[in-house]
Amino acid sequence: MIKRILTGVQCSGEIHLGNCLSVLFPTIELSKNNNNQTLVFIADLHSLTSVKDIKTLNNNLYNAAAKWLSLGLDYNNTLFYRQSRINGICELTWVLNCLTPYKMLANAHAFKDKSNNLSDINTGLFDYPVLMSSDILLFQPDYVIVGKDQKQHIEITRDIAGIFNRTFGDVFKAPKDLIIKNVELIPGTDGRKMSKSYNNTIDIFDDDTTLLKKIKSIKTDSKSEADAKDPDTCVIFSIYKNIAEENQVQDMKNKYINGGLSYKNAKDILYETIINKFKEERYKFNQIKNDIGLINKILKNCEIKAQQIANETLLKVKELLKLL
Ligand code: TRP
Repeated sequence: MIKRILTGVQCSGEIHLGNCLSVLFPTIELSKNNNNQTLVFIADLHSLTSVKDIKTLNNNLYNAAAKWLSLGLDYNNTLFYRQSRINGICELTWVLNCLTPYKMLANAHAFKDKSNNLSDINTGLFDYPVLMSSDILLFQPDYVIVGKDQKQHIEITRDIAGIFNRTFGDVFKAPKDLIIKNVELIPGTDGRKMSKSYNNTIDIFDDDTTLLKKIKSIKTDSKSEADAKDPDTCVIFSIYKNIAEENQVQDMKNKYINGGLSYKNAKDILYETIINKFKEERYKFNQIKNDIGLINKILKNCEIKAQQIANETLLKVKELLKLL
């Protein structure tokens, strides 16, 4: 049985290493299996909830697409599209809005966290999980790949699907979340969860100087070279263990435990490892990112097929609601 797998990423900021580990790498890996049908989209409508500078948004959008492509997303085998090009997503959002209890959204962790920090809370931000439910439910996926922070949004999606099915008739399949367990928490340079809203991200596609600068800014304690260090509480090591080979990880771990490796050296090793491991991808990214024509062509090619799938589901909804 072919499994349909779907994921989306925002383009409100640059895609960072945390996104790569939790979403991009596993999605690309799963898409190589012919028993899977993969759908990947750039959530440009979600990004509007937090970014109003259209130039930045557009730039991020093409960078995001270029990152997916340079990491090896096979667009002949995957539907790769822009969320905004699927009209049915906004149409379905309205119908789902009319079924979603206000309290369910008011209690969502992501909204509560953001509403404490942001001075301008817009309705779009509040409604974020419903738009996300439409992204998902229209395509009837078996699995949705998300980072751990998005787990609740998938629960909300399942709840909304259930409410719809009970109210109007069985249309939606309840999707399962696929969370990659060993990369649940990637720390950023300041030790908090890596997130664009904390400005603590590492981007493997940054130019050499910027990448090195960010790695050098990783916070550590004040232990000297000779001191024994705790790998489990060190941000450098926590990032390193997610990208280095098993024996390299073990090697650094031993040096931490026994002493003899300075944080400065550990940072240099992390930097070199990223540069070497992603050499090809970094090169490709620089080639693709400015080729807007190519990116548009790829996204456009998938759009029609994606619209067809979405429209099939939307038609069922409209038939039940006599909206035709
Ligand atoms: N909210 C997701 C994030 O911030 C992006 C997203 C939007 C998404 N719609 C989705 C992810 C649907 C999976 C499925 O990363």
